[in-house]
Amino acid sequence: MHWQALRCKALRAAAPTVALLMRECEYMRFDVLTLFPEIFSGYTSQSLVKLAIERGLIDVQLHNIRDWAAGRHRVVDDRPFGGGPGMVLKCPPVVECVEAVQRGDKPPVSDVEDGDVEDGDAVDNVVVDGRSTLEPGHLVMLTPQGRRLSQPVVEELAQHRRLVLLCGRYEGFDDRVRQLLHPDELSIGDYVLGGGEVAAMVVIDAVIRLIPGVLGHEQSAVDDSFSTADRWLESGQFTRPREYRGLQVPEVLLSGNHEEIARWRREQSLQKTRQRRADLLPPEGK
Ligand code: ADE
Repeated sequence: MHWQALRCKALRAAAPTVALLMRECEYMRFDVLTLFPEIFSGYTSQSLVKLAIERGLIDVQLHNIRDWAAGRHRVVDDRPFGGGPGMVLKCPPVVECVEAVQRGDKPPVSDVEDGDVEDGDAVDNVVVDGRSTLEPGHLVMLTPQGRRLSQPVVEELAQHRRLVLLCGRYEGFDDRVRQLLHPDELSIGDYVLGGGEVAAMVVIDAVIRLIPGVLGHEQSAVDDSFSTADRWLESGQFTRPREYRGLQVPEVLLSGNHEEIARWRREQSLQKTRQRRADLLPPEGK
């Protein structure tokens, strides 16, 4: 475990006022509850996520919902009451998985032989006086019926120290999962995916860029399209060579005049937003 994560773990163990102390850490934790944890292996072992994990800025823990399913066959889905196509995810494994992960408990049936779940600090819990110091976190259910993800929603999610991301499959969850757990239901767009896993990756990817230390250059996240600075589209970027197939880099970017460059970028940004996404501008800006 990285020193940052260890420091946060030690802080949590030392103090009962966990929530307050956790704010002193930049560390953010993601727990993903899914029937297909393998989908995440390529994602978490590459690029920005990998770097953020190595730097101890984030932690991504995967939990297989099937580990909370009862019986030899560990059935997680069933036919919908009232008929209809497809299968529905059953309440017991999903609700019990969410509750256990939020408490910091391990699955009831260890899958160590299968190589699915490791022993040790896989759940990364710290118990003081018999009580878990792991905060339950903010529960997000990925579903096409949720509120639409946008940069302001990403900024809101980044305020949490722990996100628990619940991914559905098949025809979705038994509605009582929602009624019992009151998750923050999120959709990444008006289309239906095969499951919530890709949507969970989208959430993680967008949120971690806002954690200080994850991007090399902190201004990058502010300059991005839809960022806090303004909600306009970003102006075009250029790098070497100065000329390629007859196309020149705009002269102003080579001028070294930072005020001029900033003004040019703002104008470009406004123009692009007007042309492509006028809905992002206030009525007087259109
Ligand atoms: N699961 C299936 N489709 C989805 C969507 N558009 N957003 C979030 N989760 C989903």
